[in-house]
Amino acid sequence: MVDDAHPFGIDFGGSGIKGAPVDLRTGEFAADRTRIATPPGGRPEEVAGVVAELVETGAADHAPVGVTVPGIVLHGTVRSAANIDRSWIGTDAVDLFRRRVGRDVVVVNDADAAGLAEVRYGAARDEDGVVIVTTLGTGIGSALVYDGVLIPNTELGHLEMRGKDAERQAANSVRERKELSWEDWAKVLRTYYRMLERLFSPDLFVVGGGVSKHAAKFLPLLDLDTRIVPATLRNTAGIVGAAVLAAEAARGVTHASRVGQP
Ligand code: BGC
Repeated sequence: MVDDAHPFGIDFGGSGIKGAPVDLRTGEFAADRTRIATPPGGRPEEVAGVVAELVETGAADHAPVGVTVPGIVLHGTVRSAANIDRSWIGTDAVDLFRRRVGRDVVVVNDADAAGLAEVRYGAARDEDGVVIVTTLGTGIGSALVYDGVLIPNTELGHLEMRGKDAERQAANSVRERKELSWEDWAKVLRTYYRMLERLFSPDLFVVGGGVSKHAAKFLPLLDLDTRIVPATLRNTAGIVGAAVLAAEAARGVTHASRVGQP
């Protein structure tokens, strides 16, 4: 491996697939981010084609590559598909991407990647204890971190709340679709975060996803016992976290094997 090759992170989302090389010293992009629209349907083979294109155009020759997927990723295989095509379930994403890209690729849940990035470079930096990072978007993603170590695939967006899937009541997409006021959305969010408080007694909540730029409009309304702060990396977090894990896997750091490698 070329020592100075910045690891390349790729974030697979519903509307776009975005990639950039990441400078691990700062957690910032080392070059401009490239975005390609997610192919209609977002099926595995087509997404892999876009991933390969992003790597060919943006990654250094021997750079480690990490890719996020919005579903459970267990030893490289996708195990759930709440907001993506169902054909992802059972797909060995590590093998798929490796074949198309022509080099090893680490695959990680999108919220786990974002959470790891916030812990290393963002709002949860230097925080000990239990940190829960939630991403409020189309769904709700979660990353559970204890003393800086990620416990992957927690999927706290799918906890049952008032008899139904939590993300179907509290995600930002629900606020948009129902045109909820910040006050009305905050009531639902409060129920959700209160439930997380009861279950995990966290030291800190970090709130990510695009809507976190409006944090001042809804976080003060939540009235929780736990500190709750907006994410600071915002829409770079997935790419940065994927790149961090890819670099660690390339160095043989074992926790990457819990998520993205067979
Ligand atoms: C998925 C998670 C994902 C989250 C955010 C949920 O519906 O189950 O795996 O992290 O959405 O994309």
